[in-house]
Amino acid sequence: MTHSKIIGTGASVPEKVLTNSDLEEFLDTSDEWISTRTGIKERRVSVNESAVDLSEGAANEAIKAAGLTPDDIDLIIVGTVTPDMSFPSTACFLQERLGVRPSVPAFDVSAACSGFLFALDTADKYIVSGAAEKVLVVGVDIFSRIVDWKDRATCVLFGDGAGAVVLSKSSDKGEGLLSSNIHSDGSLWRSLFAPGATAYNPFKPDSGEDTNPYVQMHGGETFKLAVKTIAAACNEALMAAGLKSEDVSILIPHQANERIITAVAKRLGLTDSQVCINIDRYGNTSAGSIPIALDEVVRGGRVKSGDILLFVSFGGGLTWASTLVKW
Ligand code: ACO
Repeated sequence: MTHSKIIGTGASVPEKVLTNSDLEEFLDTSDEWISTRTGIKERRVSVNESAVDLSEGAANEAIKAAGLTPDDIDLIIVGTVTPDMSFPSTACFLQERLGVRPSVPAFDVSAACSGFLFALDTADKYIVSGAAEKVLVVGVDIFSRIVDWKDRATCVLFGDGAGAVVLSKSSDKGEGLLSSNIHSDGSLWRSLFAPGATAYNPFKPDSGEDTNPYVQMHGGETFKLAVKTIAAACNEALMAAGLKSEDVSILIPHQANERIITAVAKRLGLTDSQVCINIDRYGNTSAGSIPIALDEVVRGGRVKSGDILLFVSFGGGLTWASTLVKW
């Protein structure tokens, strides 16, 4: 049976660093509050970089690391909720930028912070079904454009960035994606959402001119849901592959809050050395978070052949997902 495996990774973040001290200049907040509640010290915010610029940087690195050229790619999937335009998709923009062959399908998936794992799961299904062989999978978000910079309860949490992988067909059953699970519960959308501009209907009086278009979140409620759901998603991926938490070489969780990550690690009985945390430098980059962290551990030499990597995400929708990979 055909399987899929990650053969290249890449990442790209904006140049501008916004520290907690920078935020103190225009918000009623403090480095102490942000660091102790979230683990975030700084984040990147895009000044000149668009979603496709960041995606292109990450994708070029991933394709190069895979030893391929854009001509080899036969499907592009981008996870994002902050595309540069309503349409075309970020994936179509990326196809043009990279010079990927016309007629290769390219589309975006929307699953907020779970966007990358939803895109990876879709890519895996295309490969397993025989419909694709080399898929470029990108997670990118620019939350600096959809948060209210006057709302200290949300804007301090997020940052911008993109990560990418090339997922390839593999015939070796023992390697690559061992299990991949995606889930949604639309009845819980009110915990975390961003109305955007589409709430306004010009033909219906009072239909949204006053709607707050920015990210809104019930932090405490989301926090508790996140810990419970992420721990269950990790167990789901492990059970599906017949493995236990002690078999995990590195847990690469969505970076929403360091306290969520350490609570999940404790529930699973994982040690600090088994968990990847880079939220201190990037904040929550939504769909960019897991592939940015993956690229960091791969390029940092922290991953060796045969290692078991566990990716897990949780985000707006609500959506959650887990993927288990043998490197
Ligand atoms: N600086 C200073 N004070 C602040 C700030 C700030 N930036 N933000 C909030 N406060 C204040 C509040 O006003 C409140 O003050 P009050 O007690 O006088 O009313 C106090 O701090 C406590 O606020 P809480 O919201 O209760 O703080 P909490 O400890 O719950 O931490 C946080 C908030 C960090 C947001 C946490 O709830 C969290 O991480 N939630 C989960 C986030 C998450 O996982 N999101 C999912 C992924 S994101 C995605 O999918 C797009």
